[in-house]
Amino acid sequence: MHGKRILLGITGGIAAYKIAYLIRILKKLGAEVKCIMTPASSDFISPLVVSTLSQNPVHIEFWNKQTGVWTNHVELALWADVFVIAPATANSIAKMANGLCDNLLLATYLSMKTKTIVCPAMDLDMYQHPSFKRNVATLFSDGVLVIPATKGELASGLEGEGRMEEPEVIAAYLSNYFNSQTNKSAETVLITAGPTYEAIDPVRFIGNHSSGKMGFALAESCLKRGMNVILVSGPTQLELHHPNLEIIAVKSAEQMLKAVSVNWDNCSIGIFAAAVADYRPVNQEAQKIKKKEETLTLELVKNPDILRWASENRNNAQKVIGFALETNNAEENALLKLNAKNLDMIVLNTLENKGAGFQGDTNKITILDKSNAIKEFDLKSKTAVAEDIIESILSLK
Ligand code: PMT
Repeated sequence: MHGKRILLGITGGIAAYKIAYLIRILKKLGAEVKCIMTPASSDFISPLVVSTLSQNPVHIEFWNKQTGVWTNHVELALWADVFVIAPATANSIAKMANGLCDNLLLATYLSMKTKTIVCPAMDLDMYQHPSFKRNVATLFSDGVLVIPATKGELASGLEGEGRMEEPEVIAAYLSNYFNSQTNKSAETVLITAGPTYEAIDPVRFIGNHSSGKMGFALAESCLKRGMNVILVSGPTQLELHHPNLEIIAVKSAEQMLKAVSVNWDNCSIGIFAAAVADYRPVNQEAQKIKKKEETLTLELVKNPDILRWASENRNNAQKVIGFALETNNAEENALLKLNAKNLDMIVLNTLENKGAGFQGDTNKITILDKSNAIKEFDLKSKTAVAEDIIESILSLK
């Protein structure tokens, strides 16, 4: 972060009080910090605090009323290596999404040549409002990065999603962002996630209950460690945005294999957490199948085994990690998969354990590796499980 020029935009939300701490962290890491505040934000944090900590004058208005001097927002935009807007209120995000510029911060955003990163902060209902989601989607498509709000206690006294991410996490994100700009050689991990949908006709498919949560948690854990991630995901409601992340959305197993096969050579680790359908219909009907007979027989054909393909097409340096989802004889079946597919490691989760497997926020795993070591873990959040898995991969011999 040393010498990086961070332009920090502060908008009018209660989370603005945390910005003093963010500025201190960024300065300690050696960054240069200049701040722009919206007029409303000075109700939440004093410009004096911001200018003292950033060691730079704070810009609020288009022109300085004492000196009559115009504040050159274009110059500020050109100066910055990145523009971080934290907290970013629903109001400012809506204006950004629609190109409004009725304050200096918004005018600077419109002049930016480098990345803008927003850290939303608002009450839980606002965070879920369709208009907010629409505006954030517009910002994504305009190339803005978003550090999502977290769950917790809100200024309203309610509990939920909408808290601005903590300053330490924002600083770590920025550090990763700058590393990814300079360190194109960081390790790249390929992760499969979610279900596959195998079309029967234009309206029906064979699928399963995978939500993608386990695979996305693995991606987040790798990103936190500064790795690049290619996440090949079947249909899911989940979203993840990070400068070091490429998400490839697929539907079927065949599409998933294609996405894996074109990217596999550039990756040093492959983690196959997707619940891939083992079979697909031989024929995909062009029109919706009509309800006629009492019974209907579908002929199925085996799908490609993506994990096996990656294992068979790897070089000596690539590590291949599979998952095993079992309902009975769990360890025995996982061992069979580990050996048959020549894996470095397999992560077993069994539906015999309450709170493990599909959809929930928790999982309970056992890790088996090629040296025959077996390690059982407690029931944990999928985020914590992902940490255990990545730690285990990194300590593989
Ligand atoms: O997405 P969530 O709701 O969070 O749920 C997480 C999960 C339960 C889906 C995940 O933890 C998990 O267990 N994923 C693997 C599910 C699975 O398909 O297991 P399996 O035992 O059938 O497959 C064994 C391995 O081969 C898996 O790594 C799988 O990705 C892979 N495989 C299977 C078939 C196929 N055609 N291609 C594959 O790559």
